[in-house]
Amino acid sequence: MINHKEKYDQYLNKIEARLLQVASVDKPSSLYEPFRYLVGGGGKRIRPVLAMISCGAVGGNPWQALDIAAAVEILHNFTLAHDDIMDDSPMRRGRPTLHKKWDSATAILTGDVMVGYVYKLLPYANEHERSKNLFSAFTDALIEVCEGQAYDMEFNKRKDVSIEEYMLMIGKKTAYMLETSAAVGGLAGNGNDEEIECLRKYGYSLGLAFQLQDDLLDLISDNKVLGKNIGEDIREGKKTLMILKAKEKAISTEDIELLNKFYVGNGLSAEYVPAMCEMLERLGVFAEVRAEVDRLFAEAKSSLNKLQDNDFTAMLRWLPDSLNKREY
Ligand code: IPE
Ligand code: IPE
Ligand code: MG
Ligand code: MG
Ligand code: MG
Repeated sequence: MINHKEKYDQYLNKIEARLLQVASVDKPSSLYEPFRYLVGGGGKRIRPVLAMISCGAVGGNPWQALDIAAAVEILHNFTLAHDDIMDDSPMRRGRPTLHKKWDSATAILTGDVMVGYVYKLLPYANEHERSKNLFSAFTDALIEVCEGQAYDMEFNKRKDVSIEEYMLMIGKKTAYMLETSAAVGGLAGNGNDEEIECLRKYGYSLGLAFQLQDDLLDLISDNKVLGKNIGEDIREGKKTLMILKAKEKAISTEDIELLNKFYVGNGLSAEYVPAMCEMLERLGVFAEVRAEVDRLFAEAKSSLNKLQDNDFTAMLRWLPDSLNKREY
């Protein structure tokens, strides 16, 4: 019987080796050192592994999707380099962020060059029959993530963000990238339109759940386990689903005051995190968001119904359960 976790780690190791190969350019070292530092700094590698499994799910050889998987991870790392400047985050993957270890100019340029390497890894028309689809899928993902990040920043200062708007925003900044990871894996394996559509639906639901978990972990994890500083979303004034639900449910004066303080100040310092957590727990918000995560993971699994049954689709069914237990 195949062990999905072992398979995951096998893919992860090969992806990491490929990433370091891509980043092993000598000069200018002010560009390639931070590049190697970020892509070599660990991480869950969920997106590239998803691409490889999706390739297998449509009957392709997952190893043939290795470069496309590396491209997916590099695109993700570009978003991280810039996101950490935008969110003023000091820690990522247990280490100082690029703009803290170097400076913002370095982090911006490192992110920029990563986009170039994404496209360098994609197959030209004479190398893969789905080349055109692959290029446009990556371009769409790049545009979506920028739009999502723009809404994310806009919402920091807006006081009237709705739950619908928040869900659309996380759809663009996070879920679409997971959707694309599954889709490009399926394209690498030459899947048909129906299969690619199933994979897209799967990746999108998985991605929504993933971002809801990320927002939860920002409050309830700890710095060491998470590798990022907790409470950052509170500091930055992020109107997460938890805040939006708390706003609907709060009736006591203290709860309303705490939320007002958060809204008026466009965020609060990290010392307020315990009080926020106490309120969210008491109002049942954590429980509701966890139930939404469960629902979205179940929805992801049910999107796979039209795919052939093989070891890879079994692994796609396992992945949401495994992510549901994640602590970082
Ligand atoms: C962080 O992504 C950014 C989000 C979209 C939440 P991950 O949680 O996948 O980060 P790494 O790659 O594992 O470090
Ligand atoms: C991540 O959202 C979105 C992208 C990186 C595109 P967050 O800002 O919540 O991610 P973390 O928490 O910094 O990893
Ligand atoms: Mg952000
Ligand atoms: Mg961030
Ligand atoms: Mg976050």
